[in-house]
Amino acid sequence: MAHDGMERSGGQSAPRQGPAGDSLYMIRPTLDDLPVAPFPEGYGIRAMRLDEAGLWTDIQRDAEPFFEVQSEWFGQAFGGDPDAVPQRCYLIVNARGVAVGTVSAWYNNNYHGETWGQVHWLAVRPAYQRRGLARAALAYCLAQLARWHDRAYLGTHSERIGAIRLYLEMGFRPDLDHPGARAAWLALRDKVGYPFQ
Ligand SMILES: CC(C)(COP(=O)(O)OP(=O)(O)OC[C@H]1O[C@@H](n2cnc3c(N)ncnc32)[C@H](O)[C@@H]1OP(=O)(O)O)[C@@H](O)C(=O)NCCC(=O)NCCS
Repeated sequence: MAHDGMERSGGQSAPRQGPAGDSLYMIRPTLDDLPVAPFPEGYGIRAMRLDEAGLWTDIQRDAEPFFEVQSEWFGQAFGGDPDAVPQRCYLIVNARGVAVGTVSAWYNNNYHGETWGQVHWLAVRPAYQRRGLARAALAYCLAQLARWHDRAYLGTHSERIGAIRLYLEMGFRPDLDHPGARAAWLALRDKVGYPFQ
């Protein structure tokens, strides 16, 4: 996730805030020792086609609890490199081929001024949550990122507790190199069960 759907809060020392809480970032400084997490029986993942932006938006709209997903967000996220979409964007599918989730193994050429792989726009439809689909999709996404990158980051929000728990489990750590990040992560310590100092 990267679209903030929010306004910039005042002051240099506060993270951006919006309906999903503070904007937070996490990093995985290496793509070594990647987690293994197979899909549950009957589920899998496939490459997305460029003409499936509407389906991607539908999944995001279904999954997103905090704000209204706009149709142009797919283009804003991926339109800068359409040729990469079939390689880096994926749909989680059930046994009948129905798309129930999505994740992208994207990139950013200017994260802290350098190129990083990016876990982008992970979402699972509510009717299919808590079956291990996001865990399996994230493991797949990290393995794909490792083809092109040696580190990865992601953007999330402080209200996305389930996602943050999963990212911690998969080896991501808070990126404290943002204004106000340390205080924002400290406030989350108990909710996400991680001993931030
Ligand atoms: C976050 C999201 C992708 C998780 O999808 P999911 O398929 O339900 O996740 P999984 O079943 O793979 O869960 C893996 C682990 O993540 C954590 N987790 C996931 N959802 C959780 C929740 N609602 N509450 C607490 N922990 C949660 C748990 O540790 C879980 O393991 P467990 O089920 O063994 O306890 C899904 O809730 C979603 O689409 N949310 C809305 C969009 C969003 O916030 N995306 C993340 C953007 S950064």
